[in-house]
Amino acid sequence: MRIPIVGGNWKMNTTRAEALPLLVALRDGLDGFDGAEVVVMPPAPWLGDAANVLEEDSAVHIGVQNVHWEPRGAFTGEQSAAMLVGTAEYALVGHSERRHVFGESDADVNRKLRSILDAGLRPILAVGETEAERDTGATYEVLRRQLEGAFAGFTDLPTTIVIAYEPVWAIGTGRTATPEAAQEACAAVRSMVAERFGAEAASALRIQYGGSVTADNIAALAVQPDIDGALVGGASLNPEAFIAICRAIAQARHA
Ligand code: PGA
Repeated sequence: MRIPIVGGNWKMNTTRAEALPLLVALRDGLDGFDGAEVVVMPPAPWLGDAANVLEEDSAVHIGVQNVHWEPRGAFTGEQSAAMLVGTAEYALVGHSERRHVFGESDADVNRKLRSILDAGLRPILAVGETEAERDTGATYEVLRRQLEGAFAGFTDLPTTIVIAYEPVWAIGTGRTATPEAAQEACAAVRSMVAERFGAEAASALRIQYGGSVTADNIAALAVQPDIDGALVGGASLNPEAFIAICRAIAQARHA
């Protein structure tokens, strides 16, 4: 049985004065919660604060939104996966904003993925098609290219990896994929992983849906057989909404 996983990607939002109470609200609101794994990804400047607020036995794990592919060196302004060891457990890679706003290629995603694994962090690899790609029927081709690119040179599926299927047109737009469309794409991702790494690895893989997830639409998504949780952007900045999403995902799993 796959344990669902919920990620809260704050992106470049919150001042420190906003971040601290948000972290405390998550810690307290999810105290003892064990129906799903929860990962909060604050902006890098608050990772130390997050580590202080979310002590080791907290139900809320810490993730980083981005890392450089080298462990150290002359890369002004960057942070490495190796530096986050002891602070973060998870690292996001391949998010559509990194791909489309910052021009990260599949080769960059591959290098970053390796650095995350080398550091012993758990990767959350995001993939997803743009609206134009969906409209021209290229969705599966894009997903296959992104997966092949990310896993270039890999002989096995990393056991700690989580994949987030995030259609770009659904991110931050309020246009959530229908549960049927999200299920279909997540199932396609699983079968591509099965082709590449075998059925056993694919069936253990956790696949999140992301893109305008809210407390109102999550239940119908979370019951889909190939959806093992959610990657949440906007709604993760509201602790009540995010906690409600976590609870709905846990409930769907036990349904
Ligand atoms: P959203 O963002 O929930 O605001 O659409 C999702 C994401 O970018 O992971």
